[in-house]
Amino acid sequence: MKIAFFDSGIGGLSVLHHAMKILPQEEFIFFADEDNVPYGTKSPEEVLRFVDAAFKFLVEQNVSAIVVACNTATSVAVRKMREKYSLPIIGMEPALKVALDLFPDRKVLVAATAITITGEKIRRLIARLHAENLAELRALPNLVNFAERQEFASAAVENYLREELTVYDWKNFSSLVLGCTHFNYFKDTFKKILPPHVKILDGNAGTVNELIRRTKLQPTPQAANRQQLTAYYSYRRVTDAEEIARLEKFLRRLDEMYML
Ligand code: DGL
Repeated sequence: MKIAFFDSGIGGLSVLHHAMKILPQEEFIFFADEDNVPYGTKSPEEVLRFVDAAFKFLVEQNVSAIVVACNTATSVAVRKMREKYSLPIIGMEPALKVALDLFPDRKVLVAATAITITGEKIRRLIARLHAENLAELRALPNLVNFAERQEFASAAVENYLREELTVYDWKNFSSLVLGCTHFNYFKDTFKKILPPHVKILDGNAGTVNELIRRTKLQPTPQAANRQQLTAYYSYRRVTDAEEIARLEKFLRRLDEMYML
């Protein structure tokens, strides 16, 4: 089956990286809207326009399902895309439920983009889980830029995260939920900064499980076969050796973060 993974940039590769591990027989298209990244600091109207155009392109590639591997695009556009197209469209949901199922009475920090944390979708999720007094939200926009320029574990990344995260009294928190797919590249620094009891949760497995449920695909875990991946940077197929090497570097980084 041909399945598209869409993101504003290279964050969505983290969701695809997990999918490639458990669905190695499938054919994947990765679409990173590199000309327009970041989405999280733009207006919802602008993001909706970008997503709408990318969907038109992906549907023309005859894909059988689209994974919106971007919390920001999910928040703004997934409902509208489902109204427009009948193929399975799977969005991201910050793993707040997972955190609360594990530790029902402990606080959770959901880190995401500005659009995601101010959006209606996250408000509804918090209300549904009765987590008004447990969920705290924080935007970490600089991480998107650090990830895009492959600055994964620098002193600047660490200083930025220390500044942003030391304002919380972590003994009251069970988890940090990564509500932006770009944040998966920084799990080692999160771990270094946060006390050891704080779990770092992402939505990747949940999203891929939902893809499997919706498409009725059979998971066949074995070594990922990267030959079945076609990548686009905003409608341009990635064929250039330098760009392929850049993607490979992201995938290697994700391999390292996967084990954490
Ligand atoms: N990767 C995206 C997300 O999951 C958004 C990053 C951005 O473009 O600001 O929210």
